[in-house]
Amino acid sequence: MLEVRELEVAYGPIRAVRGLGFAVPPGQVVALIGANGAGKSSTVRAIAGLLPRRGSLRFEGKPLPAAPEAVLRAGIALVPEGRGILQRLTVEENLLLGAATRRDRARIGAEIAAQYERFPILGLRRHGLAGLLSGGEQQMLAIARALLARPRLLILDEPSIGLAPKLVEQVFRLVEELRATGLAILLVEQKARQTLRIADHAVLLETGRLRAAGPPAALTADGLLAKAFLGEGGAAG
Ligand SMILES: Nc1ncnc2c1ncn2[C@@H]1O[C@H](COP(=O)(O)OP(=O)(O)O)[C@@H](O)[C@H]1O
Ligand SMILES: [Mg+2]
Repeated sequence: MLEVRELEVAYGPIRAVRGLGFAVPPGQVVALIGANGAGKSSTVRAIAGLLPRRGSLRFEGKPLPAAPEAVLRAGIALVPEGRGILQRLTVEENLLLGAATRRDRARIGAEIAAQYERFPILGLRRHGLAGLLSGGEQQMLAIARALLARPRLLILDEPSIGLAPKLVEQVFRLVEELRATGLAILLVEQKARQTLRIADHAVLLETGRLRAAGPPAALTADGLLAKAFLGEGGAAG
C-alpha cells in the first residue's frame, strides 16, 4: 500500500534518514521503532510532505505527492508527535480542521457525530477549548481529527508519549480497533515491546538507517532491541 525506497531526509548537513526502505501493507499495523533521535519523526514527516525528501514513495501504486494537502487527499493522515492540537480552538473546531481538505462537505457532520460516539468525552466537551482537555483526551482528539480526513493509512507519531500507563493501554487498544475497520496504521513508538505486541510487522531504525525489519517475534529475539535502545534507560520496555 505504502512503499518507501531509498528514503533520505536531511537537515542541512545532518542526514537524519539514510537509504531507508519499508512497506505498509493494507489493513496492517507496521511498527516503526527506534531510540530517541533514530529518525522516526523525520521519516513520517517526510512521508506526510512536511519535510523535503529524496527517494521513492509510492502509495496504492502511484507516486506519493510531495505537498502535505496532496498527501492527505491521497489518503494518508499523520497525527504528529506532540499531537498538534490547536489549544485555543474548541474540540469541534479542531475536528472541523481535520476535514478541511475534503470536498464531500455534506457528510462531515455525521462523521463528527460518529467520532463523538467513539470518544464520548469529546462529545461532552465539544464546545470547550481543546487546551483544557487532559493529555489522553488531546491524543484522542488528535486521532479523531486525523480520521476526519478519511485516511486509508493513519500514521501515529508516538501517540503514547507522556500518557499514564492506563491511557497508553487505551491508545494501543484503539490502534487494534482501527485496524479491525480495515485501516492501515504506521505506528511510531519508543515503547518497543508494547508496540511489537500488537504490530503485524516491525521496522527498527538506528541512527537513520534500517537496523532490522520483520515479524515482531524476529525483533524481540537476539537482543536486537536491547542494543538499539542502549542508554535509553529501559525505553524499550
Ligand atoms: N529541525 C531539526 N534540525 C536539525 N536536526 C534535526 C531536526 N529535527 C531532528 N533533527 C535531527 O535528526 C535526527 C533524527 O531526529 P528525529 O527524526 O526527530 O528522531 P526520532 O523521532 O526517532 O526521535 C536527530 O539526530 C535529530 O537531532
Ligand atoms: Mg520523534
